Amino acid sequence: MKILLTGTSGQLGQSLVKALNDVCELITPNRHELDLSNVASIAPYIQQCKPDLIINPAAYTAVDLAEKERETAFRVNAQAPTVFAQEAKKLGIGLIHFSTDYVFDGSKATANGEQLPYNEQDSCKPLNVYGASKLAGEQAITESGCQHLILRTSWVYSDFGKNFLLTILRLAKEKTDLNIVNDQWGTPSSTLFLSDVTKQIWLQMQGANNAASWWQNHSGIYHLTPDGFTNWCEFSQEIVNSASHLGLLDMPRPNIHGIPSSAYPTPAQRPMNSRLDKTKIIRDFGITIPDWRTALQVCMQDLAGKKQSGSSI
Ligand SMILES: NC(=O)c1ccc[n+]([C@@H]2O[C@H](COP(=O)([O-])OP(=O)(O)OC[C@H]3O[C@@H](n4cnc5c(N)ncnc54)[C@H](OP(=O)(O)O)[C@@H]3O)[C@@H](O)[C@H]2O)c1
Repeated sequence: MKILLTGTSGQLGQSLVKALNDVCELITPNRHELDLSNVASIAPYIQQCKPDLIINPAAYTAVDLAEKERETAFRVNAQAPTVFAQEAKKLGIGLIHFSTDYVFDGSKATANGEQLPYNEQDSCKPLNVYGASKLAGEQAITESGCQHLILRTSWVYSDFGKNFLLTILRLAKEKTDLNIVNDQWGTPSSTLFLSDVTKQIWLQMQGANNAASWWQNHSGIYHLTPDGFTNWCEFSQEIVNSASHLGLLDMPRPNIHGIPSSAYPTPAQRPMNSRLDKTKIIRDFGITIPDWRTALQVCMQDLAGKKQSGSSI
């Protein structure tokens, strides 16, 4: 099977390469070979490489900058996936696309104000341009009628790239005190976990007797994160404790103080509640989901391994 996999210089794209490289043929264009903001170039590229499946983790992910670069965000996150979906439909192939918790406004709660996890049927109301552009991409894929899986995830990190975990590790080495937002709730998702589940789903797809009926039964939106919920401050504490335990910090742990979002204004507003309900993906694919702390430990062990082998982290 030949898979067109985008965004392989990114966190998730890189993990997907590692997960899938030994089981299928991957076509992995970089931005110079396939620029997703050049929407007209996408269909000819797909027609020329004739993939059996498209996996699209590529995205415009600069959430704050998107407020200023609305047009580029929409080109990459909405128009490019539209073309992927149209071409997938024409070729009769599947499309696996990744989306975000930021399609929600974070207001889902009980009458007492207790936050509730979002399921796939809940209505979307993005608070920022990035979320709106990702939602437009989802809607175009759904409306295209192509065979698709849209995997919504949240708070993505890995041992590589630009992410919260690596930022906290850097700050922990530079500062004695860190002020971290403690009123936004969600689930950190490691790319190792996300790529492993994607591979499991792909293997199920491959093992199906009838691909068309497999897609008929599975096409749709799914929420995918590890289990459990936390906030950014608690996540930072867990990162620092684990780093200290694994010898990744050669200095005393910084003091971590919780602050409200209002004390850390950003150009793009974030939802206070990013909790995603995973019932559907567990039921439909029979996958096992680890707790977010367990998934974090796996990533931290990888970082410790990198450090031991002399790589910079
Ligand atoms: N990061 C998060 O916290 C988060 C949370 C929820 C959902 N998600 C979703 O999860 C998926 C993976 O996110 P990630 O954190 O792995 O992203 P990432 O590390 O920021 O990587 C994004 C990838 O997209 C590529 N890309 C961006 N613009 C492009 C363009 N114009 N043409 C071609 N390629 C382009 C980047 O290439 P370059 O290296 O050349 O820029 C990079 O390979 C995305 O769909 C994202 O929306 C992420």
